Amino acid sequence: MSSGPGSQCPVRHDFDPFDPTYLADPYPLLAELRQDAPLFYSPELRMWVLTRYRDIEAVFRDPARFSSEVVFEPIADMDPRAVEILRTRHRAMPVLADAQPPLHPRIRRHLMSVFSARRMRVLEPTVRQRAAELVDRLPAGEPTDLVAGLTFPLPALTIFALEGFPEQDVEQLKAWSDDRVHVVFGRLSGERQIQVVETFVAFSQYCEDHVTRRLAEPADDLTTDLLEIHRGDPDELSLKEVTSILFGLSFAGHETTTNVLGNTLRHLGEHPEIWARMREDPAIIPGIVEEGLRYDAPVQTWRRLTREAVEIDGIHIPAGERVLLVLGAANRDPEVFECPEQFRAQREGANRHLAFGKGIHFCQGAPLARMELRIALELLSRRFERLEILPHAFETAPNLAFRGPLRLPAIGHVGAAVA
Ligand code: HEM
Repeated sequence: MSSGPGSQCPVRHDFDPFDPTYLADPYPLLAELRQDAPLFYSPELRMWVLTRYRDIEAVFRDPARFSSEVVFEPIADMDPRAVEILRTRHRAMPVLADAQPPLHPRIRRHLMSVFSARRMRVLEPTVRQRAAELVDRLPAGEPTDLVAGLTFPLPALTIFALEGFPEQDVEQLKAWSDDRVHVVFGRLSGERQIQVVETFVAFSQYCEDHVTRRLAEPADDLTTDLLEIHRGDPDELSLKEVTSILFGLSFAGHETTTNVLGNTLRHLGEHPEIWARMREDPAIIPGIVEEGLRYDAPVQTWRRLTREAVEIDGIHIPAGERVLLVLGAANRDPEVFECPEQFRAQREGANRHLAFGKGIHFCQGAPLARMELRIALELLSRRFERLEILPHAFETAPNLAFRGPLRLPAIGHVGAAVA
């Protein structure tokens, strides 16, 4: 339980990440906070909140004092029955973003080896083909939902195929994935928490069963590669660790990419001139991918726990406190990015954003995410002369961390431009 701030730390009650106005557009309040109170204490969240780039980067780079063990800690108080279900029946353990040394560097090294640049190159034609099928299926000249038709299926099908999950299970896997954000980063009622942790259990059991199947029937996938390492030395990678990696990737590997693709398309809808430039010169697309990650970060906040008493900007934070890093605010810090509130096609240093974190936990899926985003933008801009985002109320899942449209009604125009 947080001990709260000393007298020199500002306390802000106006930071409510669940407020519909904030969810619709958090950036005006974040700009004000970054200016007036770059570090403040939120009694409602019981967290110390950081909004300035340099402070957040320094925290990421200091894992000895700022531990990542709390990144998947539910922010709402958990119903004791849900806690008991997780304690007794959940098959996965912390191995990735919330894992600590010495386990974390060992797992990270093995995951890096199977997530190699070679596998990414081998994967590219498959991703391209999947994206082409999805983009071709989008109707031209009539309304469609880009989330259902593209931004969700592309990353989800890619990560599930990479793990080797059978294609016929995808609907089930999607349904299980949907709830995970809410239990960790949302505010669910006790009954909903219980339902959702039951899906955790079912999903982790599914991952365990998949590991057992792949032990008997190896295939050309990441699960088999991880099991090769296990066969070489079970102490280097246990079966439970492989199960846990699959469970972690099934989540980390698509929700985020879905969100940033949705956010970026939404903003590109406001910039037909950038769309036209992408069509003329697809070489600018990787820069637009970085700008999309910077401008509207799909992971808006991430957390750390102070392992010891620390001081930031002269403010004392005791040991054992939760620190909230607002990546969405850091990515628009004018100390680092010129005119940060503008979405620019060619921004120098756009890739300095903190959307993937930094330091020892830097996102291991960043090359895959970047590849998917680049291919999606290439194919969409090639197919549609103009992308019209239809008027709608922007709706994102009410939660502390993940930001992206739940639906994105749009019309892709081919042929004559529309007035
Ligand atoms: C645009 C999409 C994505 C974003 C914005 C994103 C963001 C992040 C962030 C903020 C972290 C935490 C970094 C930290 O604590 O310092 C992270 C960690 C991680 N991400 Fe991603 N991610 C994305 C896509 C992916 C994909 C596609 C995968 C896998 C296929 C993936 C796998 C991971 C893993 C394994 C970690 C933990 C790394 C570690 O602790 O060593 N991510 N990601």
